[in-house]
Amino acid sequence: MALAVVGGSAHPALVVAVASALDLTPAPCRSEQFPDGELRPGVEDVQGADVYVVQPTGSPTSHHLVELLLLLDACHRGGADRVTAVVPYFAYARQDRRTRAGESIGARVVLQALAGSGADALMVVDAHTPALEAMSGCPVEMLTAVPRLADVLSRSAPEVGVVVAPDLGASKLAQRYGALLGLPVAVIAKTRLSGATVRAEVLVGEVAGLVPVVVDDMISTAGTVEAAAAVLLAHGAVGPLVVAATHGLLVGPADRRLSALPLRQVLVTDSLPPVKALSLPLQVLPIAGLLADAITRRHRGQPLDDLLARL
Ligand code: R5P
Repeated sequence: MALAVVGGSAHPALVVAVASALDLTPAPCRSEQFPDGELRPGVEDVQGADVYVVQPTGSPTSHHLVELLLLLDACHRGGADRVTAVVPYFAYARQDRRTRAGESIGARVVLQALAGSGADALMVVDAHTPALEAMSGCPVEMLTAVPRLADVLSRSAPEVGVVVAPDLGASKLAQRYGALLGLPVAVIAKTRLSGATVRAEVLVGEVAGLVPVVVDDMISTAGTVEAAAAVLLAHGAVGPLVVAATHGLLVGPADRRLSALPLRQVLVTDSLPPVKALSLPLQVLPIAGLLADAITRRHRGQPLDDLLARL
């Protein structure tokens, strides 16, 4: 069965990088849009192939999500033997439960739509919640970039550092970084007030005299990092801080918020296209190698164990 890589419009550079790491060129795709905004993507040369559709669902999220669904269906109907959705950044993962009456469970809706559109399996990278696997209508491989990010950090992270989880949800992630970097861990309890504002309240762990390495799955508006920095500096942590996250959404006030902080390094991967006009000490780690490795192993029926997140 031939291997094929298909890409939508969300992150063309990543699609080409993944394909070229596999010694392929992406399968030809058309991307049409009707005047009312309706999408009409098309794909060629997937008959009988083991197809990997690479599409992170970053902003504009709805557009990229619908395009992904249509591409999966196009591959399925185009006679692909097997179709895997490779979604390095998986939007809606934060909606894995109802926090108020009258809400949907967005993660489940998206997962069911992916499986219903022809995805035989799904690959994601450091998704916000491991609960995705349980909610999905098809198998999910939860890849992780954390060892690669930690490897970069180990070359620049301060010896007198402390890994900080900026909320309770990131505490296992922080333990993983702490183990890889050989640093102690502190945890902050955070309350989300709105999509762009949070309040950091309680700090568990010792940070006085230490340089914080704040880790998270994503930086969106940077409200979480901003609130964590305030708590850490108030408790005697030493700036400038290091911030690391797999997904650099960096939307809305992120640039302004981060620019106002004493930052030594902001490390993210290229799971999403680069954000322009950021005046930050930003370092971007490529993940095409990780994705290509996972695709090769799945194609050959080999285990992915050492590439998977175990949180
Ligand atoms: C939420 O729990 C996530 O892990 C991140 O902490 C959050 O999404 C980051 O968002 P923001 O940068 O807007 O605070």
